[in-house]
Amino acid sequence: MGKDSFLCGFKGRFRLFAKRHRGLLIFFFRLIPFYGNLDVLAQVFDTDKNFGHRYTRHYKHHFRKFRFRRAKVFEIGVGGFDDPVSGGASLRMWKKYFPFGRIVSLDIIDKRGLSESRIRIYHGSQTDPEILSRIADENGEFDLIIDDGSHVSAHVITTFGLLFPRLKDGGIYVIEDLQTSYWELFGGNRDLGAVGTSVNFLKGLVDGLNHAEFDIDGYEPSYFDLNITEIHFYHNMVFIYKGKNTERSNFEGRAKR
Ligand SMILES: C[S@@+](CC[C@H](N)C(=O)[O-])C[C@H]1O[C@@H](n2cnc3c(N)ncnc32)[C@H](O)[C@@H]1O
Repeated sequence: MGKDSFLCGFKGRFRLFAKRHRGLLIFFFRLIPFYGNLDVLAQVFDTDKNFGHRYTRHYKHHFRKFRFRRAKVFEIGVGGFDDPVSGGASLRMWKKYFPFGRIVSLDIIDKRGLSESRIRIYHGSQTDPEILSRIADENGEFDLIIDDGSHVSAHVITTFGLLFPRLKDGGIYVIEDLQTSYWELFGGNRDLGAVGTSVNFLKGLVDGLNHAEFDIDGYEPSYFDLNITEIHFYHNMVFIYKGKNTERSNFEGRAKR
C-alpha cells in the first residue's frame, strides 16, 4: 500500500471515529496540556492577539461554547504585510482552538497560497460585495466573523453591513482595533461625536437594542435593530451577538410622554 493511500485510509477512519465518539475525543483534547489555552496558542502561533492587544481573554469568554462545534469562522485579514507567503498566524491559532472548525479568511494581498486543510483563504477587499457574497455562498452562514482587516472606519462599517446578514442566528461578529476610530490616518476622527466613525456607528447599534422603547412616531426598526441581541464592548474591541430582538416594550400601550 502506498503512503498516500495509507494516509487517506487513516484520515477516513479517524473521521468516522470522530463522528461516532465525539464526546470521547473532546475528553482527550482537554487532557492535552495548553490545548485549550488561547493565550498560549496565541504565543505558539505568534499572533499579537494576546501580547500586544490582550484580546484572547475576551475571545476565550465569548467563543468557549463554540470550541467543540463544527464552527465556521471567517476572519478578515491574514496578516504578514505585503508578502504573499507570510501571515496566517491567527488562522492557525483558530484551527487549533476549534478542532472541528473550518477557518475562512480574506486579504487584499493575495495570500491564497497559505491555505491548508481546514483553512481557506480568499483574495479581495473586505468592501467588495461580490467577493463577500461569493465567500458566504461557498461556505454557508458563519458562526463567528472577525474583522481584523484594514481597520478603516468606512471599511469596517461597510463590511459589517454586508456580512452581518451572513452570520448565523446565535453567531457573534467581532471587530478588533477600534482605537482607529479616533485616528484620522484610518478615516477616524478625533471628534468623539463625528459621524462615520466605527465607534459612533456601533453606538447607534446600542440604541437599536432598545428600539421597542423608542418614542418616535412611525419608527420602522432596521435589520440591525431586529437582529442584534447583545453588544459587549472592551478596550479596542466589540462582540456583537446575532439573534431575534423582538421583545416588546413592557411599557406598551401607555403614554411615553
Ligand atoms: C492586522 S493584519 C491581520 C492579522 C491577523 N488576523 C492575525 O491576527 O495574525 C491586517 C490584514 O488585513 C489586510 N487588509 C488590509 N486592508 C484590507 C482590505 N481592504 N480588505 C481585506 N484585507 C485587508 C492586510 O493585508 C493585513 O494582512
